[in-house]
This record gives sequence, structure tokens and C-alpha cells, in this order.
Amino acid sequence: MAAVAFERIAKRFGPTVVADDLTLRIADGEFFVLLGPSGCGKSTLLHLLAGIEPADRGVMRIGGVDVSAVPPQQRDVAMVFQSYALYPHLDVFENLAFPLRNRGLSGRALRAEVERMAGTLGLGALLAKRPRDLSGGQRQRVALGRALIRRPAAFLMDEPLSNLDAALRLEIREEIKRVHQTHRITTLYVTHDQEEAMALADRIAVLRGGSIAQCDAPEALYARPADTFVARFVGTPPMNLLPAALLAPPEAAAARLQGRDPASVTLGLRPQDLEARDAGAAGALEARVLLLEPAGGFTWLVADLAGTRVKARRADGARLAPGDTTRLAFAAGSVHLFDAASGRRLER
Ligand SMILES: Nc1ncnc2c1ncn2[C@@H]1O[C@H](COP(=O)(O)OP(=O)(O)OP(=O)(O)O)[C@@H](O)[C@H]1O
Ligand SMILES: [Mg+2]
Repeated sequence: MAAVAFERIAKRFGPTVVADDLTLRIADGEFFVLLGPSGCGKSTLLHLLAGIEPADRGVMRIGGVDVSAVPPQQRDVAMVFQSYALYPHLDVFENLAFPLRNRGLSGRALRAEVERMAGTLGLGALLAKRPRDLSGGQRQRVALGRALIRRPAAFLMDEPLSNLDAALRLEIREEIKRVHQTHRITTLYVTHDQEEAMALADRIAVLRGGSIAQCDAPEALYARPADTFVARFVGTPPMNLLPAALLAPPEAAAARLQGRDPASVTLGLRPQDLEARDAGAAGALEARVLLLEPAGGFTWLVADLAGTRVKARRADGARLAPGDTTRLAFAAGSVHLFDAASGRRLER
């Protein structure tokens, strides 16, 4: 087990800047998630740490040791690649056994470990198969098992659940979390799925254009997004963003503007905090219903609010139809305020 650090890392592919003076410190035993849209550089950061790809500048440390010049196989990290990378000539049993044989394990002890891992990941019936005879999801589970069976200084996982169906994804996600809680091995986990990130992480770094938009605990990212990019990226459905000139800001929010021009403000409201009420309800904003999305137990409603598309909650959606007028209500305390020009959070 070991702390992991990226210190002032720069990396580009031709004109594409993947990292620009990026610094990240991951504590020993931490489950750390790199979250960001496709192409933002998540996989590349893992490849840099694994030593598969060289950095242009900066230092990477594992357990405090500068590993920048250490060859990949000596870095003691177990990587689950986005594209699995199994040994094609070995069956599932031997793919799982490979790291154990490297560690000097054999015979009954080895068989027991392989079978336990295979059972955990639902691969028990596939041990004699070659990778080419497996489905994408099965290959992904073998790749995950081959990493989890080791006890490295750190796990590097690149979207290890992306090829699994919804039910299996939840199941294996729980398994990953359980393994982490048991062994507390430092884990650097990449995903573009914010829900997965929230469910697994001790801390999340949201990446954008070669730098870190925000690095925080899941609850803090959700409660106090640093800018409109993070606000839209974390939480489903995404936060509604409204030009504040559309609205008379509630008193509590107005107090936080600290003399700024209200016209330059973007108001953020999570769909969960925006409640659709009957037409005529007092203290609420009039909007026109565009779409209804039943969510089981309640309904998401897409509405036009003075020219901006917003999403809101409705307890009994059955009573509304597209074209209806509704009133949208929210508590003053649920409002997020951002600078309209920079997108940066204005308060708290
Ligand atoms: N070997 C390479 N040569 C040239 N460009 C590359 C190379 N690897 C990655 N890139 C570019 O660097 C950027 C970051 O790629 P990377 O694979 O790290 O993104 P990602 O965040 O993992 O995306 P995804 O979520 O789609 O997997 C992309 O613009 C990509 O096209
Ligand atoms: Mg990737």
C-alpha cells in the first residue's frame, strides 16, 4: 500500500494538451476517482503512472518514491485497462493465476485463490475458456479479477465496468468497494460516469482540458460545485442553469451577491430542488410543460421557463400534460450562484 502523487505533470500529444502542470496527491489507502468527459485525459494519466507512457515534465511518486524512471513492471501497480489486455493464449484460470505464479504461489493454494476470485466475479464456469471465446463483459471481469487477485501498492482501474450490463455493473461495483474496504489498497479509478464516481470514491477529481476543475469528497462536489462545469457534470439530472436576470433572486441569494451586478449571475437549481406545483401557486415561477418523464414514484418534467429549458420534479405527473402551465417552486437555500462570465461559484 502506498500514497500516490502526480507533481506538476505536463503531457501533450502534438497539439492536444492532456495535462498542464497537474498536481494530485492521493493518500495511502484512498479510493480516488478521476472523472471527466471523453477525451479529457483520464486514461493517459493512468498510463503515465503505470509507466506505459512517458510524461513530458513533472514527477510521479508511489509510496513517496519517484518512479518516473522506474520500468513499468517494477512499479508494483495492478492496472485494469479500458481494453482489458488479457493473455490471449491462456485460459481464464491461467489469466487469473498469472500474477499469483509470479508471486511464487502454486498447487492447492493457487487453485483456491483463483477459484475464490472466479466465484466472486461470476466466472466459475468459464475457467477453461480462452479470452476469444468470452463476451466483452466476461473479458472485463477476467481483467478485473486478474488485477484484484494481486496485492499491489496501488490499483489503477480504467472504466472497469464499462462493458457490463446494468445489473452486473452494480454487482461488480459493490464487489470493488468491498475489496477496497477489506484491503484498503490505494485505488485510482477512472470513469466518465458521475454516479459510479459518487458511489465509489473517497475523493473525486473532475478533469477538464488538462487541469482539475475541482477535487473534493463526493458530497462536497454535489453540494458546492466550484463552477458551472462541475455543477452540470456531477448530479443527475444535471443542474438547471438560468440567467439570473430572468428571476428576482430570493432574499438570501441577493445578500450573497455582495454588490455584484445581478445581470451577470447564473443561478443554479438542481432538478431535485425545483418542484412543479399547480398553476396559480403563490411564490413560484410560471413555466410551460414540454415533456414528462415518469421516474417511478414521481415524474421529471421538462419545462420552458422564460425561454430556458429546465427540469423539475413533480410528485403526481399524471395530472400534467405537455402544453400545460405549471409553477416552479424552490427553497432560497437550494440556490447555487455562479459568475455568468467565468462560471465560477460566487459564494460559500
Ligand atoms: N497515443 C496517443 N497519441 C495521440 N493522441 C493521443 C494518444 N492517446 C491519447 N491521445 C489523445 O489525448 C486525449 C486524451 O485521451 P485519453 O485516452 O486519455 O482520454 P480519456 O479521458 O481516457 O477518454 P475516454 O473517456 O474516451 O476513454 C484525447 O484527445 C486523445 O485523442
Ligand atoms: Mg479512457
